[in-house]
Amino acid sequence: MKSRLKSKPGKQSMLAYQSGFGNTFSSEALNGALPVGQNSPQRTPHGLYPEVISGTAFTAPRAENQSVWLYKLRPSAMHRPYRRIANGLVRSGPFDELETPPNRLRWNPLPMPAKPADFIDALATLAGSGDAASQSGIAVHIYRANRSMTDRYFTNADGEMMFVPQQGALLLFTELGKLEVRPGEIAVIPRGMKFKVIVESPSRGYLCENYGQALRLPELGPIGAQGLAQTRDFLAPVAAYEDTSGKCQVVAKFQGGLWATELRHSPLDAVAWHGDYVPYKYDLAKFMVINTVSFDHPDPSIFTVLTSPSGQPGVANCDFVIFPPRWMVAEHTFRPPWFHRNVMSELMGLVHGVYDAKAEGFLPGGVSIHNCMSAHGPDVATFDKASAAELKPHKIENTLAFMWESRWVFRPTKFALHSKELQKDYDRVWDGFRKL
Ligand SMILES: [Fe+2]
Repeated sequence: MKSRLKSKPGKQSMLAYQSGFGNTFSSEALNGALPVGQNSPQRTPHGLYPEVISGTAFTAPRAENQSVWLYKLRPSAMHRPYRRIANGLVRSGPFDELETPPNRLRWNPLPMPAKPADFIDALATLAGSGDAASQSGIAVHIYRANRSMTDRYFTNADGEMMFVPQQGALLLFTELGKLEVRPGEIAVIPRGMKFKVIVESPSRGYLCENYGQALRLPELGPIGAQGLAQTRDFLAPVAAYEDTSGKCQVVAKFQGGLWATELRHSPLDAVAWHGDYVPYKYDLAKFMVINTVSFDHPDPSIFTVLTSPSGQPGVANCDFVIFPPRWMVAEHTFRPPWFHRNVMSELMGLVHGVYDAKAEGFLPGGVSIHNCMSAHGPDVATFDKASAAELKPHKIENTLAFMWESRWVFRPTKFALHSKELQKDYDRVWDGFRKL
């Protein structure tokens, strides 16, 4: 199924998509480019090179198994050795640059780069867990870009990458085609897939690099089939390719390091493809939010959009959870998030608006970390206001906060702990609670 999307008022996106989460898709940018009835014929239509990307072990269970066949102008194997390049502010596991404090941590938004910088140039790692070699844990980065990648491409063997734009729209031109992603939407690019990031204005956002099992929709249990994110709202690209002969660079992230090689052609040269190992986007406004209609607040797991399992049932390597606009109707209830300590570790971001547990200080583009068993919850101003509020139905509007929640502790990088954007007085938001 193809759809034409209206991206914002007055602007019509011309991109076409295929809809469905986990579907096996097929797409061709040239008529007849996709072989019929077999994956690797002796001679392919248009003389394209068949090439398969296996996103899971060959023998992974059928429900987990992901792969995609590409039909390319040249095989990906046609490149010279990668050479090590500087990592800039990119870090990976074991995240042991500095000892991890048990403190609650919060950062103001990182400033946009003063100099021209593409997606790779200004990528900065804030925190992470696990390591890429053991395919467990996640890393959280902030991307900031004020220029597009034109003759430069990126690929990440260490993990899949979830983009959460906070400012500016991105065009993610991947090997399988193009995704346009705006604040309020997310996109995921699978491990090992090449892409470039095109910006139309200075852009910033959050990036979760998932070393573990691929993100998927959570089980719905007693909710039944109809809640939370729906499969049809996830959009995959249609085939699009570049047929160029100019010099370009491919930057690969491998075992935490950045490596580069030069090509004489674009690596985005898949004319056709079929499979289920695909990049995708999702509009968070389409998330069906569930909340109480009586009293108290369920665990925020009801807001889970996507989850990466860890192998232990119900204990995530990473849950992606959102706090979108929603009605609050609970009776005789303190409605904002409660005070709590959590064995799971929480990293939050804010796309826009105000988060309902913090009256101020948590800014769009900012980040907070509340690690394993750290005590947190509403600040004093929020507590006082919510404790006295008239409990009529109330809609929380114009807000979009989110959380990456993990069984693994987020270990901040040296850059993050030494950043002047780290709020030195964050603990003060919980000063002044009186003994009632
Ligand atoms: Fe929390």
